[in-house]
Amino acid sequence: MDKKISKIYSGLNGEITIPSDKSISHRAIIFSCLAEGTSVIKNFSNGKDPLTSLDICKKLGANIEFRDNLYITSTGKLTPSENTLYCGNSGTTMRLMTGILAGQNFNSILTGDESLSARPMKRIITPLSLMGAKIISNNEKAPLKIYGQNLNGIDYKSPIASAQVKSSVLLAGLFAQNKTTFTEPHISRNHTELMLKYMGADIATSGLSTSIFKSELIPQTFEIPGDISSAAYYITAALLIPKSKIILKNVGLNPTRTGILDVVQKMGGNIIILDKRNISGEDVGDIQISYSNLNGCTIEGEIIPRLIDEIPAIAVLATQAEGTTIIKDAQDLRNKESDRIKAIANELKKLQADIQETPDGLIIHGKKELEGGIEVDSHNDHRIAMSLYVAGLICKKEINIKNFEWVNISLPEFENLFDSLIL
Ligand code: S3P
Repeated sequence: MDKKISKIYSGLNGEITIPSDKSISHRAIIFSCLAEGTSVIKNFSNGKDPLTSLDICKKLGANIEFRDNLYITSTGKLTPSENTLYCGNSGTTMRLMTGILAGQNFNSILTGDESLSARPMKRIITPLSLMGAKIISNNEKAPLKIYGQNLNGIDYKSPIASAQVKSSVLLAGLFAQNKTTFTEPHISRNHTELMLKYMGADIATSGLSTSIFKSELIPQTFEIPGDISSAAYYITAALLIPKSKIILKNVGLNPTRTGILDVVQKMGGNIIILDKRNISGEDVGDIQISYSNLNGCTIEGEIIPRLIDEIPAIAVLATQAEGTTIIKDAQDLRNKESDRIKAIANELKKLQADIQETPDGLIIHGKKELEGGIEVDSHNDHRIAMSLYVAGLICKKEINIKNFEWVNISLPEFENLFDSLIL
């Protein structure tokens, strides 16, 4: 589906509630399958990726009913009705499920779409194999044939800061003999640790290391906050469009995810957090954002995992900031649903932005008016599609975004929410 988008002059105004967090939705549904009894999930995501996890949970024997909320009833033991499980576009589904399936008493195969089948799986195969897992891959990529084994805990120092790798190993640790410890070079999102703790697992974090022992999970009620990675597009649009002032309600503010707020503040963006609270173990709040004059900045090191998914949106922002923005240490962005460094640099260049790829990031010189009047490509990647839409709102001439339907991977409500902010 193509999407035509043109400049808006009125500014964005009003309030919206940000839809459910994708990362937390995956974990809530998957972990509920591992707990004996009935778990309740309030505000589960409508995105295609979390629905892929939900579908797999059904195939693994969980009874899932949707009434006002999601009700997941499980025996706590996985009982597959099918052994080949399709993970679609979702890296989180595949990597978390591999950790769980590695320690079961049955065999399974995880498959994915074209993008997921091209993404690196060595990062999970290496530590899981050290635990005793038997995983046969296609050149370290999906499909993954997982032969269930008895696992042993390990003390693993990860070369990359990846929440998916960390979660995969910790979930394998839930079924392993002895202690499993995972140490990461920088802190990545910690939803797995918080949720497993909330469900009674024997898990503890100290600095960059988390340890877990074999545990039984207790069913819980989960209330999923809004996704700060979805909020990022409304934040950047409001900062860029003159006369804008918006409030985003119910946004997850877990400190391992709020790198974008730190960067916006560093760039001089007018952003205020209102009514901060804690729900089901996660920080939540409302965010007020107004149009701002921005300055470029350098983004590197430990902050990268705290804003990894927001970099394409930050790149759009940087095209309109005075001076130079340098993004470094983000090489893993090349391993996402698309090569996001290349994708965003190429597409923004088509709009006449002054942006240059580096091996591990981007260099963007602002402030440069975006021209438009041409077609850009989503690269079949939801975050590239949504970032280009924000760029389209400030381009001089209309743009056409090819394959825009990929937004449904995380945020089917994306456009309706934008429309409700345009008076
Ligand atoms: C995710 C972790 C991140 C992120 C992805 C979701 C998660 O990936 O980019 O969108 O839910 O754990 P990595 O763990 O590969 O950095």
